[in-house]
Amino acid sequence: MRYNFLTAFAALGAFFVSTTTAFPPYAPLGGLSARQLEEIVPTLDAKVPPPPPGPPSFTGAKLVDDRDHPWRAPQRGDQRGPCPGLNTLASHGYLPRNGVATPTQIIKAVQEGFNFDNSAARFAVYAALLGNGNVVTDLLSIGGKTRLTGPDPPAPAIVGGLNNHGTFEGDVSLTRGDAFFGDNHSFNETLWDQFVDFSNRFGNGFYNITVASELRFHRIQQSIAENPQFTMLGLRHISAYGEAALPVNLFVDGRKTGSEKGQLDLESARSFFKEMRYPKGFFRAAQPGGGEGSEVIFLSHPTSPGRNNATVNSFVVDDSLGSILDPCKVYTEFVNTTVLGLYPSPTGVLRRNLDIDLGFLYDAFGSGLPNCPQVFPYGRA
Ligand code: HEM
Repeated sequence: MRYNFLTAFAALGAFFVSTTTAFPPYAPLGGLSARQLEEIVPTLDAKVPPPPPGPPSFTGAKLVDDRDHPWRAPQRGDQRGPCPGLNTLASHGYLPRNGVATPTQIIKAVQEGFNFDNSAARFAVYAALLGNGNVVTDLLSIGGKTRLTGPDPPAPAIVGGLNNHGTFEGDVSLTRGDAFFGDNHSFNETLWDQFVDFSNRFGNGFYNITVASELRFHRIQQSIAENPQFTMLGLRHISAYGEAALPVNLFVDGRKTGSEKGQLDLESARSFFKEMRYPKGFFRAAQPGGGEGSEVIFLSHPTSPGRNNATVNSFVVDDSLGSILDPCKVYTEFVNTTVLGLYPSPTGVLRRNLDIDLGFLYDAFGSGLPNCPQVFPYGRA
């Protein structure tokens, strides 16, 4: 079911409203009913979303595992999720260590700590906030907490966060399982063994673009064969390829040159993916970057966006939400289908902030694409 996350959000809202505990300021409002929003929104500390930060003035390599950013293991209550980059930044204090941050904090942290490209950072963060964050308080959790809620027997509700499945988080991750198998965000030792095996077979013990191409394709084949609810649509079709390239560009020490460039050793990879920690003395990349090489990964084994049809091995092509080959449609459908589905008729500060954040999303993504006009799901303000 493509929109089962809506049901999850609705159940979550019912839980909070019925128990009248304080609504967590980072919990998403998407999928709540008009009545629930009327009750919850006035209890929140509403912010006007500020314009996102631009690129920093210095964009070269530098030591980021420094004295001001010591690694600390997450404490009870700190949130971590499916993104090894953001998890690492939180565990080193580039992001608030509790894992809850504003878009501005996240953009500054990914630029400072990884040299993540400014427009890619802005696109990722506003897509994440609109899909999984709280647009009234301007806060996003990089993970999410699981709580038990009724009816009897209690069903878990995810108070997410990037852990929410179906908007940004998706199937076929390299080191995390598909949501269908019960845990979509924790480091998965079996998938890690496969990561190591592919790096040994195709990269002489390193993870590089060749390994990324083979492993990305294999993970897709694996999910088609094992997960009846496998989906890879729209934004996920872009992010699945982009995320396979990110470790090559941003997890390799920025001092590496020549044949060592773009070759991620497995000890460093495990440090990021599992320990959420920089390798000792790590230097960030020597120039701003992100998903460069994702088109090579895609073209090595092109797979269309699509999904299984409730049984395994029943893959059908579905490009209704766009694809890596049609990013303008990904932008347009993310806004008109995903965001509008979560927020069908917002009012007041919620509507105001959605309009502002949708503008920031367009500035980061749609505006750079040819013939890709901005869409206004709620009309022009
Ligand atoms: C700008 C803010 C960012 C946001 C909102 C974000 C969000 C996410 C999300 C939601 C996922 C899970 C997708 C899935 O289901 O696999 C993910 C995965 C991933 N992210 Fe990030 N991310 C950000 C920045 C970064 C940075 C700076 C890096 C690297 C330095 C990074 C590296 C990765 C990698 C390698 C994965 C794939 C993990 C896997 O497949 O096992 N991300 N990210």
